[in-house]
Amino acid sequence: MKKKVGFVGWRGLVGSVLLNRMIFKKDLSKLNIKFFTTSQVGHNGPKINNTKFGILENAYDLQKLIEMDIILTCQGSEYTKKVYFNLKKLGWTGFWIDASSYLRMHKSAIIVLDPVNYNFIMQSIENGCRTFVGGNCTVSLMLMALGGLFDNNLIKRIFVSTYQAVSGAGSSYIKKLLLEMGVLHNSVKDDLKKNNISILKIESVITSLLKSRNSFRLFNDTPLAGNLIPWIDSDNNDGKSKEEVKGQFETNKILNLKTDEEVIIDSMCVRISTFRCHSQSFLIELNKIINLSEIKSILLNHNKWTEIVDNDKYSTIRYLTPSMVSGTLKILLGRIRFSSFGKSYITVFSIGDQLLWGASEPLRRMLNILIKL
Ligand code: HSE
Repeated sequence: MKKKVGFVGWRGLVGSVLLNRMIFKKDLSKLNIKFFTTSQVGHNGPKINNTKFGILENAYDLQKLIEMDIILTCQGSEYTKKVYFNLKKLGWTGFWIDASSYLRMHKSAIIVLDPVNYNFIMQSIENGCRTFVGGNCTVSLMLMALGGLFDNNLIKRIFVSTYQAVSGAGSSYIKKLLLEMGVLHNSVKDDLKKNNISILKIESVITSLLKSRNSFRLFNDTPLAGNLIPWIDSDNNDGKSKEEVKGQFETNKILNLKTDEEVIIDSMCVRISTFRCHSQSFLIELNKIINLSEIKSILLNHNKWTEIVDNDKYSTIRYLTPSMVSGTLKILLGRIRFSSFGKSYITVFSIGDQLLWGASEPLRRMLNILIKL
């Protein structure tokens, strides 16, 4: 019998990427899926490859939700907060798969990233776990990139500098970035055509535009184009952003490490003006000295999505860029070398698509694990 799956939040950014992947991988034919909505109850559901998926159900109707074997939600933390515990109180014993962060650190929830923690996921299901949550995107992308080193217990501690795409802040930020790029270009496009114009004159127009409160700040906050923002998510009030705190806690939870086994992960998380790939620069202290070719083969053998770019100028500039990874499941690794800090320190740069491995793909794969049970 096909499992009854209720899908909530399938029209948002992560939900749409997930639905597209499910269509591409032909997952829908394996499910008895119902689409839920928080705003368009009774409207027609999606029509996918000539199949109509019925009428949209009310995502707050607990009596409808309780009929589901699995609920898959990309609706966000507020929705989870309103619905999850009420559903549990009614005695619902189905599986909850969630893209939002609300339940991530809850003791009853497992953070899913099956190429990294498949055994832990399966053991948790056996032990009665019913709640599976996608990890923070930088954490999941780091673990996909460095999984081999974690698996071989080679990492003592890591410092990560992130370069996070605007998609991580939501679809409105992708639009904001594009609009800002247009405004900047328009402001100097005539000057750019002139041969004798000073580049400093052009730059001063751009700079004053970036600083102006009124004309440029389309969303009344800090510009994304021609800029960066070294703070992501809320203030943890200890000098760290919440994004930086998640790195330490979520990694150790995904790996199911005991307190005395925990890996120290410190980070500086930065929003930059790329669209959907998060990049990360790692300074890693290893537990032992090991040669670079062995490190590379450990990284490559961990999962089939990692690819290594040679650490030379041409290969790095040509291949190790977000634009090469966008829209794919590749996890690119490069700049692998020993650090000047000493032979037990290495540097690695990685890039992954924030909407795929960073958000939707671990959930799609979790759904597939559950429907095979
Ligand atoms: N917090 C991430 C970001 C989103 O802002 O880029 C993915 O978890």
